Amino acid sequence: MTRKLFVTTALPYANAPFHLGHIMEYIQADIWVRHQRMSGNEVHFVGADDAHGAPIMIAAEKAGITPQEFVAQIAAGRKQYLDGFHIQFDNWHSTDGPENHALSQDIYRKLKAAGFITSKTIEQFFDPVKNMFLPDRYIKGECPKCGAKDQYGDSCEVCSAVYAPTEVINPYSVLTGATPVMKSSEHFFFKLSDQQCVDFLRGWALQDNRLQSEVANKCREWLDGEGEGSGLGDWDISRDAPYFGIEIPDQPGKYFYVWLDAPVGYLASLKNYFDKTGRNFDAFMADPTTEQIHFIGKDITYFHTLFWPAMLKFSGYKVPDNVYAHGFVTVSGEKMSKSRGTGISPLRYLEIGMNPEWLRYYFAAKLNAKVEDLDLNPDDFVARVNSDLIGKYINIASRAAGFISKRFNGVINTTWATSDDAFLSNLRTAAPEIQALFEAREYGKALRAAMEQADLVNAYVDANKPWELAKKPENDAKLQEVCSRLLEAFRILTIFLKPVLPQLATQVEAQLNLAPLQWADVTSPMPDQHQIHPYTHLMQRVDLKIFDQLFDAPTASEAAPTTTETSSQIEPLAEEIKIDDFAKVDLRIAKIVNCEHVEGSDKLLRLTLDIGEGRTRNVFSGIKSAYQPEQLIGKFTVMVANLAPRKMKFGMSEGMVLAASAADEKTNPGLYILEAWPGAQPGMRVR
Ligand code: MSP
Ligand code: ZN
Repeated sequence: MTRKLFVTTALPYANAPFHLGHIMEYIQADIWVRHQRMSGNEVHFVGADDAHGAPIMIAAEKAGITPQEFVAQIAAGRKQYLDGFHIQFDNWHSTDGPENHALSQDIYRKLKAAGFITSKTIEQFFDPVKNMFLPDRYIKGECPKCGAKDQYGDSCEVCSAVYAPTEVINPYSVLTGATPVMKSSEHFFFKLSDQQCVDFLRGWALQDNRLQSEVANKCREWLDGEGEGSGLGDWDISRDAPYFGIEIPDQPGKYFYVWLDAPVGYLASLKNYFDKTGRNFDAFMADPTTEQIHFIGKDITYFHTLFWPAMLKFSGYKVPDNVYAHGFVTVSGEKMSKSRGTGISPLRYLEIGMNPEWLRYYFAAKLNAKVEDLDLNPDDFVARVNSDLIGKYINIASRAAGFISKRFNGVINTTWATSDDAFLSNLRTAAPEIQALFEAREYGKALRAAMEQADLVNAYVDANKPWELAKKPENDAKLQEVCSRLLEAFRILTIFLKPVLPQLATQVEAQLNLAPLQWADVTSPMPDQHQIHPYTHLMQRVDLKIFDQLFDAPTASEAAPTTTETSSQIEPLAEEIKIDDFAKVDLRIAKIVNCEHVEGSDKLLRLTLDIGEGRTRNVFSGIKSAYQPEQLIGKFTVMVANLAPRKMKFGMSEGMVLAASAADEKTNPGLYILEAWPGAQPGMRVR
């Protein structure tokens, strides 16, 4: 029976590019999805940006753009990561899309009609300068327990105390520095404490095979709580304007708290995708056989195993079938952090030419069905990729395919094959177990089982030594048999690894001249006289040295508007350099002895520069938009004097003058040539 699966990953905040933790989550889900597709199941795999909330609104304001523009900039950067790591979402949407507005409001209306929404007036800190209520994180002050300065409104990083923002001593607003005042406002609550809710959640969360056991245990603790009855309090789902979010129906100036509309974004992305592709969203969600599965990180289980199922249940929507939580990625045992040099940038990984499938393989090898953290360790990475992936698997093809191509015109011979061919049938019988391990998200075990099979295949290689057989023409039949068997074995191993290594599997399919491999193909051998294509090398080994480049600063393309109060809107800094690197650039004071327009160019000015060499230099500079030639003649500027001369359409350019410009030339087109202080002489070095 084909299953109908709706699969999601958590929706990342649209305030920063992806980090390695996001990529790990997507790889985990993508492997599962690919495994399902190879099993013939119908899968719809969607993601979206989580666009709303105060931090994004404030970051956008700092950047001088609308929140919509801000999240659009982040969204525009997503594709290169997803494509780069072969993560195959069917759709990527935004929680600010119209579908999410409609669905969130619909869910709210239904919850309200069913009596699950209440309101009460609460008092909160308010920034009188900014005219907005302050989330706890935007209040700082002295810790009420230990007196440490500049602590957040909810907890102290010095003594770990947790407290209410109202307890903070000398509180101030992070946004304006103003002293916050108490102000009251009406808030809306989802009645999670309602007995029906508690009863439903207990049944839902504790149902067999729904949640991982450690997650189910946590839910039980949350539901039991301490004291009388339920441990669940009502959930505050509203925020006051100004807020970047979805308006609460019939409540002007009130918005849904971001965590109300964020998970609805799962449905919104699916609906957007179904509408685009002519499918019926309502029918799919109403179908009792549809399975709804969420992959998430351990930090957001509370939202996904309490709030989200309850919201869906009491608004009459389908509830999730499974929520699968994973642990956090650490790097060499440390929390990922850019400042400590443990923040691996996924884009840099790709840009320095590391193979995305190495990372997929490595993560898969370390993943299991538990909520365990996962460490990326360079030595371990190199060992697993080189000795397992390349040493055990890729090498089988490189040892067998060459002979078939060169000696037998690329023709496979299977006349020897019988149904009791023990070597190959052993390999085939391993398939159901490996398939079941993928199903159970025990990828590490699945890969171990696949590598055990690869060991057996390599033992067969060593026992039959094709390179020895190849030495004597009378062994040709045997050579063709051995290599044909090896390629069949390689084909089966490729099926085992395909959920993890989709790109490689595609290359193998092309080389072996096969249709896309499915799980069912394990038992359909390549036929006799099957023609394969010439062997080309499938995958390189990894060199530990490449990690030096990986741990460098992030690439310029990765830097994004950030949401911390220390953020600035300048162009991201280039990679760190040593003083020796700087010394390579020979900067000299240059006198502009002449300057003129360049016939036929609307960008360039021709500069004649004197740096005291006893001759002048000719330099073309793209500063025509900013200066008239006569403004520049006689000025002293700075030039790069040891830049290789460059032949341009209008003549030779023998260096470059320095000028400042903003990163975004469209919105800020200004151009400012550097000028030296009086006294500097032509030819003096700038250092
Ligand atoms: N926007 C919310 C999720 C809303 S879901 C309706 C959010 N966004 S997030 O960008 O902070 O995190 C997105 C996902 O990445 C979460 O599942 C989170 O657990 C995961 N990870 C964040 N840091 C991680 C690691 N260091 N390692 C692995 N996953 C991590 O939470
Ligand atoms: Zn403290």
